[in-house]
Amino acid sequence: MRTLIKHILAATEPKEAVTVKGWVRTRRDSKGFSFLELNDGSCLANVQVVVDSGTPGSEHLAHLTTGASAVIDGKLVASPAQGQKWELRATRLELVGTADATYPLQKKGHTQEFLRTIAHLRPRSNLYGAMFRVRSRLAFAVHQFFQERDFVYVHTPIITASDCEGAGEMFRVTTLKGNIDEKPQADFFGKPTYLTVSGQLEGETFACALSNIYTFGPTFRAENSNTARHAAEFWMIEPEMAFCDLQGDMDLGEEFLKALARYALEHCAEDLALFAKFVDKGLQERLKFVVERPFVRVPYSEAVEILKQSGKQFEFPVEYGLNLQSEHERFLTEEHFKSPATVFNYPREIKPFYMRLNDDGKTVTAMDVLVPGIGEVIGGAQREERLEQLHENMKLHKLKPEDYWWYADLRRYGTVPHAGFGLGFERLLMFLTGVPNIRDVIPFARTPGSADF
Ligand code: 4AD
Ligand code: MG
Repeated sequence: MRTLIKHILAATEPKEAVTVKGWVRTRRDSKGFSFLELNDGSCLANVQVVVDSGTPGSEHLAHLTTGASAVIDGKLVASPAQGQKWELRATRLELVGTADATYPLQKKGHTQEFLRTIAHLRPRSNLYGAMFRVRSRLAFAVHQFFQERDFVYVHTPIITASDCEGAGEMFRVTTLKGNIDEKPQADFFGKPTYLTVSGQLEGETFACALSNIYTFGPTFRAENSNTARHAAEFWMIEPEMAFCDLQGDMDLGEEFLKALARYALEHCAEDLALFAKFVDKGLQERLKFVVERPFVRVPYSEAVEILKQSGKQFEFPVEYGLNLQSEHERFLTEEHFKSPATVFNYPREIKPFYMRLNDDGKTVTAMDVLVPGIGEVIGGAQREERLEQLHENMKLHKLKPEDYWWYADLRRYGTVPHAGFGLGFERLLMFLTGVPNIRDVIPFARTPGSADF
């Protein structure tokens, strides 16, 4: 494997012979020599290459324009220029691929909207290079967090016949042509199937055998809400713990978010500094705050009272029994508590069938973790482990128990209290980088009306 620019620039002493391979960011020509900035995506920094006229291969210099690819041999020497320790004195140039003047990613800053239209090239920009390095590291941090705590990673299915959230926002998967509702039993799986909205129900079956598990995979929702926080395809992390109640669930959610923020601060410092400079000035302070301070915990009923008494004009109504909208969630975290907050015990009518009914007969053991700038990043619950009550919940939500026979079986054979949650990976990345649109934290966004690339 070749040595990446990241490692070349981390050198502690000059080197006689190194080779760099990457894409040209800029070229400046002077009398008798040229400067090239080369980047290979391994880090934010470019390596500056000094090419004297007469260097073997320098006849190709004119073609080493922004976007072209090159292999350059040279000597790594201390750079007299400010802001960089090393530069490369080229001894040989090789032009690998040209990029003509139509190359759309020029040195000037482009808007994020424009960059979305060239999503195949935007990872070559500083901001998106940083974003997708952070995304990769955080995916690793997720696995590390759970593996260190003996959670078992479970691959739950992408194609499913059940609607976990009961919101009817599923994409149909079919091989039928024509009227697909006419004879669903003739379909590939012998019944209507969909892309999963959550691996939770299958995850619960594994938690009720292996104790602590987690999933981490793509989920799909046909929500027709064209917002900056919703994607039709997004990645979710769903831990599930047997012998665990709502308290333990809230504890894990808080510990998990803190660990991920700490990981980002420690392992993605250079890239976070870029986001702090260009996107969100207070980024590191906010993340440190999240790491250090306990989250506020507040019952839903109390949160509603706070909103009602805030004197604030909201677009959506605030009333006990209605869902909290993102504007309400943001008010609570940004203006009222000035801290992440976990809201729990929601009215049963506005939450899915699988949540455990509280003794008050009105609320269920739901919990949402809200963070400043985003609103909800985590949604979870203690699950209804009592068979009779589960059937009762299904009735209320107009679900057919026979469709969920295997899920109900868990309550029939050695049922245990258990709980879990889902963390939206893109919402987490928005929170960690300050980037305000979900389309910019996912390599190729899938949103209503848009499935390019
Ligand atoms: O609150 P949600 O709908 O919860 C569930 O799916 C549960 N089954 C999770 C569980 O208990 N195992 O979704 C969980 C999280 C949300 O808090 C949000 O961060 C994210 O998934 N999310 C989305 N992210 C991007 N685009 C969307 N359309 C999203 N819908 C939910
Ligand atoms: Mg939710």
